[in-house]
Amino acid sequence: MTTNKLRAGMIGMGMIFDDTYRPFFERVHADGMFRRDFGLIEVELSGVASRTGARAQKYRQAAGNRIGPFVSFSGTDAAQQLLPHVDVVCVATPDDRHFEAARLALEAGKHVLIEKPSVLTLQELDQLDQLARKQNVLAKVVYHKLADPDHKKLRTHYVDGNLRHVNNGYCTLLEPKSISGSQFAEWIQGRNPGTYVAVHYIKLIDFTFGDRSPHAPREESVTRSLTPTNWRLARITCNGQRGIVGSAAGSTWDSVQLQVVYAYPDGREAAFDIHTSWVTPDNFPGYVDQEVQFRFDNGVWNAHQRKRGVEMTIEGRTPGEFKITPNHHYNGSFIEPWGERTQRGYGVEIIQKFFEEVAYVEFGGPSDQRLQRLSAMRGLTYNDVSADRNTVAIVQAMEALLFRQAAGQPGCVVEVNTPRGGLVLLTPGKSEATVLYAERV
Ligand SMILES: NC(=O)c1ccc[n+]([C@@H]2O[C@H](COP(=O)([O-])OP(=O)(O)OC[C@H]3O[C@@H](n4cnc5c(N)ncnc54)[C@H](O)[C@@H]3O)[C@@H](O)[C@H]2O)c1
Repeated sequence: MTTNKLRAGMIGMGMIFDDTYRPFFERVHADGMFRRDFGLIEVELSGVASRTGARAQKYRQAAGNRIGPFVSFSGTDAAQQLLPHVDVVCVATPDDRHFEAARLALEAGKHVLIEKPSVLTLQELDQLDQLARKQNVLAKVVYHKLADPDHKKLRTHYVDGNLRHVNNGYCTLLEPKSISGSQFAEWIQGRNPGTYVAVHYIKLIDFTFGDRSPHAPREESVTRSLTPTNWRLARITCNGQRGIVGSAAGSTWDSVQLQVVYAYPDGREAAFDIHTSWVTPDNFPGYVDQEVQFRFDNGVWNAHQRKRGVEMTIEGRTPGEFKITPNHHYNGSFIEPWGERTQRGYGVEIIQKFFEEVAYVEFGGPSDQRLQRLSAMRGLTYNDVSADRNTVAIVQAMEALLFRQAAGQPGCVVEVNTPRGGLVLLTPGKSEATVLYAERV
């Protein structure tokens, strides 16, 4: 029997490759991927592209027989060279380099999975979406927080009408200094922690409280007892601080406070504050501090992504080598009760889900029904680029607001979908408006 196969390519082999893609590829190398509708599929990491190739070489040596043979390309045209060797491409380069890699892959007719944030402007998102449609492939984004059991339960309560009508909330995600100081030192110039991590919560809010798309065909049995939410994104403001990662007058940010406002048709509004940083001390008790609170007409939801109950101290080893308040749900390495060593969690699950979607498109039924399967998978709004518009709009606005602040114009606001345009930046004391995106968001 011949087994169907997906050849995967990785563009970017940094921290997130090691955290989530590597355990996924090693697992499917050992076990394959099976579902009744698409059968047994081989998923192989067939090629990688990175800046220097050094990490690929290191990984090849460290992994031994946990992974199959793969080709490795480095340098400026590494992505281009990789493409003939693969069917599916995962883009995990720094956030301002996603677009080019994804565009090349889609142009070559490959299915694409992009790390969050997908891209930095709606103009780029439009291009990727159009290309994916033209080439009849999937273009998807990784937002693993949507698969966190706590966030899934939050959405389930909202969809089921237990928690009703969200009014406001806050989210915070603080990264340690080692991220800005060493891990990302190569590409941090001009970047900000908001684009890097607020985007997790931007998507969580937009998807959890705003998304009312029909469920995918495979999920038809899910009952929905919900009145449609037709809120709309209304405006975005943002502030940032500088002086630790870069100079106080420069364009590299230490911390960012973002506020996003949605409007309901009856005139009520919902506002969300998202605070982020990448200059928290490295001896912080958890890797990242993550907390949310959402307030509804009839309730409050508080969740701490770090303090989920485990607190551990080991003399001389916490909180450096091990953390005091670890999150074992995202991505933990375990010895299973049956003796096997595994690395698992929702960070890995969400990668597998994408590969299942590709396998379903390619092998989930007769070839003359491929387009129907493609369209069904494109309808999954948790990860399709076409459903990433609000998130990218907020990121685009945040970047423009920080740019203005660095240029000596703090306190600007971005309006959404007004007669002047889709994304319009207004400056205090000035009558002119800058259109960031002319079409409707
Ligand atoms: N899902 C998550 O929670 C999560 C966590 C961390 C990072 N990320 C995202 O993953 C992406 C990468 O982050 P990271 O932490 O792995 O970064 P990193 O700095 O550790 O690694 C970046 C990798 O990209 C490669 N690279 C850089 N420019 C390239 C180019 N032009 N072509 C090919 N390769 C190139 C580098 O060689 C390196 O291998 C970012 O978009 C980030 O937002 C997601």
